[in-house]
Amino acid sequence: MLVTGGDGFVGGHVVDGLVTAGYTVGVVDNLSTGNLANIDTHINRGSVGFVKADIRDRDVMGKFVHDVDAVVHLAAVVSVPFSLENPRLTYDLNVDGTRDPLASCVRSGVKKFVFISSYSVYSAPQYLPVDGAHPTCPISPYASSKLDGERCCEEFNERAGLDVVVLRLFNVYGSRQTLGEYSGVITKFLECVKRSRSLVIYGDCSQTRDFVSRDGYIAHSVADTSRARKAFAYSPRVPIEEGLQNLLLDRRCATR
Ligand SMILES: NC(=O)c1ccc[n+]([C@@H]2O[C@H](COP(=O)([O-])OP(=O)(O)OC[C@H]3O[C@@H](n4cnc5c(N)ncnc54)[C@H](O)[C@@H]3O)[C@@H](O)[C@H]2O)c1
Repeated sequence: MLVTGGDGFVGGHVVDGLVTAGYTVGVVDNLSTGNLANIDTHINRGSVGFVKADIRDRDVMGKFVHDVDAVVHLAAVVSVPFSLENPRLTYDLNVDGTRDPLASCVRSGVKKFVFISSYSVYSAPQYLPVDGAHPTCPISPYASSKLDGERCCEEFNERAGLDVVVLRLFNVYGSRQTLGEYSGVITKFLECVKRSRSLVIYGDCSQTRDFVSRDGYIAHSVADTSRARKAFAYSPRVPIEEGLQNLLLDRRCATR
């Protein structure tokens, strides 16, 4: 298995899961927002190979997809505010940086491509919870680039028969999530709690997701997970209270 962006917050957990399930794993990551410490235990044990490279480097990607059965593609511009300031870079990485690996996979006979997309493709919901059939309406470069990435996946499925899976993640939180200018709200709130500072809540407090009304963000976002439950027995195992408690205690929730 090849994991792009495997040194990141979500990617590190994906690598853990794949190693635990017994897969041989390779990671390509340019460490722009990722941290080698997220997978260094696996690297030291020899269960994961790591290459520091940009996913837009066709030669590198061509070489590395050569021997793999499947690719999990997480490397991306991941921040809505950053994408508003840097739309071209966002498209370059999230669209061309998805199209090129897809093409490499087809050339090398890779069996499956898993694309990590985002709930942001929906914009303001017409109903809640939001399911996979809900109409899409991206309102930021991040969101529209993710939707274009999905379309590239569909195209390669139709045109070249590549088996593709698109997962639209909603707000993810947990250990290894870093604090920075573009962090999610849970990381920021926990940092305030740790430093005994007041929490700053934007908007009118009626939001069902993000506690912001900032440009490019969505006020209500709740997922209908029934399709994921059916398709791969997905079931949330950690109640939010327990997850927040674990995160607060987690020494790896480091300030960046
Ligand atoms: N965290 C969430 O709540 C959330 C929600 C929806 C979707 N997602 C998606 O999940 C994926 C992972 O997000 P994350 O929260 O773990 O972010 P992250 O920043 O921790 O991980 C992204 C990883 O990609 C790497 N990367 C970035 N540009 C690269 C490039 N050009 N070449 C190689 N590697 C590169 C980074 O170094 C990092 O390790 C992203 O595709 C993101 O859009 C995340």
